[in-house]
Amino acid sequence: MGDISIQIGPVRFKNPVFIASGICGYAEEYSPLVNLSRLGGVVTKTITMLPRAGNLPPRIHEMPHGMLNSIGLENVGLDRYVNEKLPQLNQRPDVGVMVSVAAETEDEFIKLAERFAPMDGYAGLELNLSCPNVKGEALDQGRNPQLVEKISRIVKERIPKKSLWIKVTPNITDVGTVARAAEQGGADAIAAVNTLVGIDFDLETGKPVFARGSAGYSGPAILPIALQKVWECAKAVSIPIVGIGGIATIDDARKFFLAGATAIQVGTSLYNDPGLPERIVDALAENPEWMRARARASASPAA
Ligand SMILES: Cc1cc2nc3c(=O)[nH]c(=O)nc-3n(C[C@H](O)[C@H](O)[C@H](O)COP(=O)(O)O)c2cc1C
Repeated sequence: MGDISIQIGPVRFKNPVFIASGICGYAEEYSPLVNLSRLGGVVTKTITMLPRAGNLPPRIHEMPHGMLNSIGLENVGLDRYVNEKLPQLNQRPDVGVMVSVAAETEDEFIKLAERFAPMDGYAGLELNLSCPNVKGEALDQGRNPQLVEKISRIVKERIPKKSLWIKVTPNITDVGTVARAAEQGGADAIAAVNTLVGIDFDLETGKPVFARGSAGYSGPAILPIALQKVWECAKAVSIPIVGIGGIATIDDARKFFLAGATAIQVGTSLYNDPGLPERIVDALAENPEWMRARARASASPAA
């Protein structure tokens, strides 16, 4: 097995395969099913300053080729995460942890970053500026390049030795502009993408399935859209891109490297195939040159 470690900003990860945020909670829930130590890392469920109860049920709705979710950022809040969840995860040897955070204001982002700044036990922060299920400002942060640049800067300044990833929404026309803003703000990577906005209706009631109407769509159906967004980001920035969206096979993961990604995250597919991330690690490690040669070089536009 060859060396497939990657560098993202100041941090070296043992390989480029991660579990996406929100898929396995704070990760200890999935420990019996996935050997987390074998992965590049796990991105934990997005946390906010204060605990959130999330949206009314139903929260998950299966579709033929993907899944709609409307979780609404339910989470234990910063204090419990730092005091309980992260230490639990840190008991497992050698697990790379990226902490996903969201905030409603710049001030809250500063507070979150200052809390994490002196801490050990995590590799970096992934900023969720793109969750489509939350009311208010959070919805707009990821669509506003000036704000993305500013938030990236104020967080990076406070965690210079950690890796800062900005997770972008696919629900915009020009993802390249937002990615460039994050890079200018000092982000170490772009994580692309979060869920697409979708909706489904109940034929009996005639109403949307979810109380809030729209929800986040993920799973195999979004693969080509996610690949396209990664491709666009790769043309816009020179920092690494972490590709996310619809990965259900080893070959799906390989396509993200062809699109210009340096790393990937597995999301929805983990629910029916918890062994997939480890198989992707094995496949890449069998031929490390493939990953290195394809990543980025092939991302330059053909026309
Ligand atoms: C049930 C569920 C919960 C999610 N929660 C979060 C979250 O808390 N923060 C976040 O940044 N993304 C969240 N996501 C989005 C995923 O991290 C990922 O970006 C998206 O699902 C696309 O990847 P996939 O098609 O492989 O699932 C969630 C997705 C699902 C399905």
